[in-house]
Amino acid sequence: MKNMKINQPLIIGNWKMNLTVADEAKELFMGIKKAVKRNSHATVVVAPPAIFIPELARLSLGSQVSLGVQNIFPEPTGAHTGEISLPMVMSYGVKYCIVGHSERRAMGETDKQVAQKVEAILKQRLTPVVCVGERERDSQGNFFLHIESQIKSVLSVVPKTRYKDVVLAYEPIWAIGTGKTASVDDVVEMQLFVQKVITKHFGRNVVNQIRFLYGGSVHSGNAEVLYQSRSVNGFLVGGASLKIDEFTKIISATA
Ligand code: PGA
Repeated sequence: MKNMKINQPLIIGNWKMNLTVADEAKELFMGIKKAVKRNSHATVVVAPPAIFIPELARLSLGSQVSLGVQNIFPEPTGAHTGEISLPMVMSYGVKYCIVGHSERRAMGETDKQVAQKVEAILKQRLTPVVCVGERERDSQGNFFLHIESQIKSVLSVVPKTRYKDVVLAYEPIWAIGTGKTASVDDVVEMQLFVQKVITKHFGRNVVNQIRFLYGGSVHSGNAEVLYQSRSVNGFLVGGASLKIDEFTKIISATA
């Protein structure tokens, strides 16, 4: 069962808690929209701070840029102070949810909570973008076991027919926002390892269904060589997604 979406590069911009007022968000979004018009080969997603979603939803109507959220609460409604539900963001056309970003895991989010969110997201027919990654690399390669347990935990809640809707983003924490990108060899090796883990726990035919992204200091200077390694289906971009020129070049690098 081949996943057709896997042939199209996927580039997701995670704006994190940046930009202060809606006008800034709109300006950046319009720039990205223009860039995407010239780059129809790719699926482009912007995950802004949730407060800007209503304004950006208007701009994304009829455009090729989809909206994502940076986090979600798994319950549909109720007494959950400060949280945002899937039905709320879906009412603005949001299609993608980033889950288990290391910056949220650092605040205490567990594998179990990540899995609960993925389950809820799939039930609502949205696309979870699940982040996994090691804090640091040890010479014995124990960090691989950490990645294996993160992947095993999250994929075990995915129904067999829904693997094709899951996006895995390998984001080594040491590479996020540091300017230190994983090398092509690191990414190729990790992709092979992830395939092995998926085959071992979920079956060989699942490997070709799940999209695999790299994130961690992706910029215009390294996107092309990473993409040409054929080990990733695209990128999850933080800092560089806030600069129209940089983000545009990253998108073009996947052509
Ligand atoms: P970065 O962030 O591109 O700024 O390193 C990536 C991420 O956290 O998703």
